[in-house]
Amino acid sequence: MKKKIIIINGPNLNLLGEREQSQYGSITFDQLKKKCIEKTNELNLDLKFIQSNIEGEIVTIIQNARKEYDGMIINAAGFTHTSVSIRDALDIFKKPIIELHLSNIYKREEFRHKSMISNVVTGIICGLGGNGYILAINAMHELIKNGNR
Ligand code: DQA
Repeated sequence: MKKKIIIINGPNLNLLGEREQSQYGSITFDQLKKKCIEKTNELNLDLKFIQSNIEGEIVTIIQNARKEYDGMIINAAGFTHTSVSIRDALDIFKKPIIELHLSNIYKREEFRHKSMISNVVTGIICGLGGNGYILAINAMHELIKNGNR
């Protein structure tokens, strides 16, 4: 059976290509989604690519994902730095999780240096722009194959 992964994108990532190009590059959300679909097709993975601006909605998506998906990649965007609830929901997902950021959050304002979710994820990719999504899919493919969390 095909393994299933979910990529969750937090607030404002729907405006990629328009917002802060110096941090996030010129790739649009739709272009990024298309690249991820191509990559997962190549690796024979089933992909759900989702975005929400609403914290509670993301918590519910994470909760529901635990029954359906073999791995999760999450760019929690601004909620990375604030959300205990997203962190707690991720902790319940007992399968591989990759925390992802387009920008290098440690090179930016101090409030971005703290991630609420880093200590409940398997690994972190940041600072590599849109290509980080492709690297995360490759890494998730390996994690699922090897049965790691
Ligand atoms: C981000 C980094 C966050 O600090 C920021 O709030 C975002 C995007 C990134 O992908 O670099 O919205 O997660």
